[in-house]
Amino acid sequence: MEMKTSGPDEKKVSQLAKDLNELLANFQVYYQNLRSVHWNIKGKNFFVLHEKFEELYNDAQEKIDLVAERILTLGETPIHTYSDYLNSARIPVGKNVSKDEHAVKLIAESIKELLEIEREILDKSDRADDEGTNAMMSDFISEQEKTLWMLKSWLA
Ligand SMILES: [Fe+2]
Repeated sequence: MEMKTSGPDEKKVSQLAKDLNELLANFQVYYQNLRSVHWNIKGKNFFVLHEKFEELYNDAQEKIDLVAERILTLGETPIHTYSDYLNSARIPVGKNVSKDEHAVKLIAESIKELLEIEREILDKSDRADDEGTNAMMSDFISEQEKTLWMLKSWLA
């Protein structure tokens, strides 16, 4: 008879919490990039992009909270200081970005990085039998792939 798995693998789950912290750090930089382009965008596309970036940072804020609370659920502490975020994030920090194309490119690049991290976590959470994290990553990925498609279409 096959042994049934009794839930997530603890060692793998603690590694997952670390990966989720890396995702959290990147999300925080992404979030602030969105705020900065929401504020600083200039030109004929102002109204559309100003609003689109607001929609995206509100979405990012929700995801940030989900990631942090997932880390707590897994028994670890979400990183919570700007200095820790900057130390762990690989998303480029956008500064003085006000041109529409530059802004959309920055956000598209940021989402690409997030998707890479999310796909790694999706794969690892699958191997750790961590269904909760796996389902969350799966949701994030499908939503953000769609956003990336729209940003790329805008840029094309
Ligand atoms: Fe605003």
